[in-house]
Amino acid sequence: MERIKNFPYTPLQLAVHIYAWSELVIIIFDLFTHHLTANPIQQMELLTGRHALALLVLSLVCTPLNTVLGWREPIKRRRALGLYALMYAVLHVIIFIDLNNGLAWSLLIDTVIQKSYILYGMTAFLMLVPMAMTSFDIWKSRLGKNWKRLHQLIYFAAPIAALHYAMAVKGDVFHLSGDISQPVAYGAVIGLLLFLRLPFIRRFFASVRTRIRIPFSKSNPQPKAETR
Ligand code: HEM
Repeated sequence: MERIKNFPYTPLQLAVHIYAWSELVIIIFDLFTHHLTANPIQQMELLTGRHALALLVLSLVCTPLNTVLGWREPIKRRRALGLYALMYAVLHVIIFIDLNNGLAWSLLIDTVIQKSYILYGMTAFLMLVPMAMTSFDIWKSRLGKNWKRLHQLIYFAAPIAALHYAMAVKGDVFHLSGDISQPVAYGAVIGLLLFLRLPFIRRFFASVRTRIRIPFSKSNPQPKAETR
């Protein structure tokens, strides 16, 4: 997607920033105008969790958009999406620790022990933190091959976060009952996105792109700046 003349951002870049910040503004606005249900803290917890997961999934969409369509720009937006995902995850965790449990550590530990889905959330969170911290170019050159290895944590973090979601909602993901359609949909999308990263699938799409012309695809079909 081309830059608009004399404007420093591409439409995709703008869409990423607008989505990430507008949802936060909406949450804050709804909080102050009392539109966040009867339990605003729980609602904020849910909303920040949902946006963290949505942004994480969007960051996973970028590479398949490159391999399937040959569209390179999403690769450049992956870092922003990942960082925004962490931003919402941090807010989600702060709301859980501070507002929900009032910084009562014994209560917090009891909750973690009683609700196993929180352990899954913590695991996903602990994987996101080092990825976000090392997402800058300086770390890429410092860590060399280990950078790629570290960032492969996303293959675990995203499904674990989806599992955390599935177990947090009312219902039983293991018996496919209750309110689990959304988390199951997230799980399916994540599964598909990970499948599209398999080397033989990538090779298949690269060879298809040499034969047919796909919108967004540049004349050279082989994606170059693949990082993870
Ligand atoms: C230390 C880490 C985490 C803790 C302690 C935590 C805690 C929680 C809690 C307590 C809930 C249930 C809220 C309720 O039903 O009242 C929840 C739901 C949720 N969390 Fe987390 N979470 C963590 C990390 C994450 C991460 C990393 C993500 C996504 C990337 C995430 C996404 C979600 C989602 C999508 C929900 C369900 C929202 C809904 O029901 O609509 N969480 N989390």
